[in-house]
Amino acid sequence: MTEKYALITGASAGIGLTFAQQMAAQGWSLVLVARRTDVLKTTARQLEETHDIKCHVITQDLSAGDASAKIVQSCQDNSIQVSALINNAGYGVPGDFDVVDWPTHDAMLQVMLNSVVELTHAFYPAMKAQGFGRIIQVASLAGITPATAGHTLYGAVKSFLVKFSHSLHLEAKEHGVHVTALCPGFTYTEFHDVNGTRPMVSKLPKGLWMSAEDVVAQGLDAVEKNKPIKINGWRNQLIYGMTKLLPDAVTRFLMKGSISKFRKR
Ligand SMILES: NC(=O)c1ccc[n+]([C@@H]2O[C@H](COP(=O)([O-])OP(=O)(O)OC[C@H]3O[C@@H](n4cnc5c(N)ncnc54)[C@H](OP(=O)(O)O)[C@@H]3O)[C@@H](O)[C@H]2O)c1
Repeated sequence: MTEKYALITGASAGIGLTFAQQMAAQGWSLVLVARRTDVLKTTARQLEETHDIKCHVITQDLSAGDASAKIVQSCQDNSIQVSALINNAGYGVPGDFDVVDWPTHDAMLQVMLNSVVELTHAFYPAMKAQGFGRIIQVASLAGITPATAGHTLYGAVKSFLVKFSHSLHLEAKEHGVHVTALCPGFTYTEFHDVNGTRPMVSKLPKGLWMSAEDVVAQGLDAVEKNKPIKINGWRNQLIYGMTKLLPDAVTRFLMKGSISKFRKR
């Protein structure tokens, strides 16, 4: 049987790990990419034992300039044709723009922007040629709501992903390739532990939080239905709707008084 492979970046934790688990249950074989080899290998073994699938592990720091080329090469060397791409790896960089050093900004742009575009550019043509493909760009509610101070590039990068994803969605739909930008709000993962904001965001109302399981299930459903964008959960949809309906000055004021309090500066 020819394996149908999904490549997932950031597959060692949180939303990416959950994509791996749910896609394995759907019968996808997997290419798992992240830096933590031990976690990826354990995940691969567990998923292969539980489901009738294959897993290929690629240990790769996506901040390296040649990361995407190495990932593509590893797939070629192992005769893997990628039919689904989940660009998920990411993190937040606390602090104001000028306080954060350039190597940190540069690495973040490489992981969350350049590698996303490069991997999509590398794998989309074969999907188009075979008339089948699934691409999910994991963006964020932060990409479609007004800007906040602190974590300066995060919302900007996620806005880019939403716009890029939507344009590609329009180009790809006549070729059987579905492209969706996934926009979660606050989701229980390692994200806020990694960027040191857990004590701050723990004060947010529980109702604002979603599980990675629900976020991913909604994302997979949305890409199957070929939705250009999926905002997770009715509360996040309401927040987005309000930012569209209310005058800009009002939403900026509300953002300043609410979400801004949870941005580390
Ligand atoms: N959690 C939220 O509230 C939330 C909300 C909206 C959007 N998102 C987005 O969802 C995506 C997944 O985040 P998450 O919440 O699941 O966070 P997470 O639990 O911290 O997982 C992040 C994943 O990205 C990988 N990663 C980080 N830096 C990497 C690098 N340099 N090279 C390769 N892999 C790297 C990590 O793997 P290694 O450490 O093993 O490399 C890990 O697998 C991100 O794009 C994030 O912006 C999250």
